[in-house]
Amino acid sequence: MTLRVAVVGLGGIGTRHADIYAADERCEVVAVCDAFVEKADAASQRYGCSAFTSVDEMISSVEIDIASVCTAGVENGGDHYEPTMALLNAGIPVLGEKPISNEIPKAREMVALAKEKGLRYGINLNHRFTPAALRAKEWIDDGRLGELNIVNMTMWINNPNESSQYFHMRALHPHSIDVMRYFCGDVKKVQAFFKKGEGRKIWSNVQVNMQFENGVIGHLTGSYDAGGSYGLERLEVVGSEARFVLLEACEHLEFYPRRSQQVETYAYLGDMMSFGETFESRITRWIDQNIEGPGPDEIDGSGEDALKAQLIIEAAIESWESGQVVDIEGTSQ
Ligand SMILES: NC(=O)c1ccc[n+]([C@@H]2O[C@H](COP(=O)([O-])OP(=O)(O)OC[C@H]3O[C@@H](n4cnc5c(N)ncnc54)[C@H](O)[C@@H]3O)[C@@H](O)[C@H]2O)c1
Repeated sequence: MTLRVAVVGLGGIGTRHADIYAADERCEVVAVCDAFVEKADAASQRYGCSAFTSVDEMISSVEIDIASVCTAGVENGGDHYEPTMALLNAGIPVLGEKPISNEIPKAREMVALAKEKGLRYGINLNHRFTPAALRAKEWIDDGRLGELNIVNMTMWINNPNESSQYFHMRALHPHSIDVMRYFCGDVKKVQAFFKKGEGRKIWSNVQVNMQFENGVIGHLTGSYDAGGSYGLERLEVVGSEARFVLLEACEHLEFYPRRSQQVETYAYLGDMMSFGETFESRITRWIDQNIEGPGPDEIDGSGEDALKAQLIIEAAIESWESGQVVDIEGTSQ
């Protein structure tokens, strides 16, 4: 079976999606679409396919089985809505980029339309698609950690972007929150403090407390003013019997039993060497799932997962602005 693939938005990230599809023998890139004709033409030459500047024109001209939407826009998510709605309305499953949207009503609409049409809708929540994360998830599911108590996540990079006051929270933390949800489930309550970094106009540092539905208590440290030399991401999940630490999404995984010194350390599980490779593992999983044909409800890293992460982000912002602990509404829709 060959999947006919379209990619919308051919910036750096769309090109990465298209390269991964093109290298997979189960896929053929049949169409590319970018609002800038130069980008669309360059991509059509790279993949030997048709080029479009309008999604509607692309949909009416080419048979498409699946599509990636790699637009950006306000807070890196403002442009995803229109092409995603057009593709879903045409019956085409979509893998979107994160954030699903910077606006919750639009995120809800896209998730609802995919559900109504019975279509697969995934988001590139790539940080959880690593052999190390999978191993750690198995430990939790097998009860190796006992009852989960605490999750701590740190995600930070140096990013000078000052385009909107909550850009850091909305554009970066879909990733960190998705990983926290992957291990600990849905979140019930959120409280946050923000701080502007030195000389900055935006809320570039954040500390978020979370209470999960299952009672786990979690904390997220985020920053656009830190990281630098090394260290994008550190996650720790603490249970009654053991805890694990996962570094850089895939590079190091450590298991610490509570009642013995038998620490286990794993480096580069599954030969995944760096964060960049998570694009390939995530998109390959998306291809697998479109070929194997699980129902839309079983898509890993779904639109609904991305919406739930965004609801937590908006709750953190509301908490900071109101000084209150905020209940997450409508997470289990
Ligand atoms: N998953 C990750 O780890 C990760 C990492 C970085 C960026 N991203 C996300 O990837 C997305 C794209 O990032 P980028 O840096 O490639 O952005 P970019 O701005 O370089 O590229 C986006 C492209 O989309 C095109 N576009 C916008 N609206 C369009 C429309 N309606 N129809 C056709 N083309 C349209 C633009 O012309 C542009 O070429 C963002 O949402 C960003 O948040 C994800």
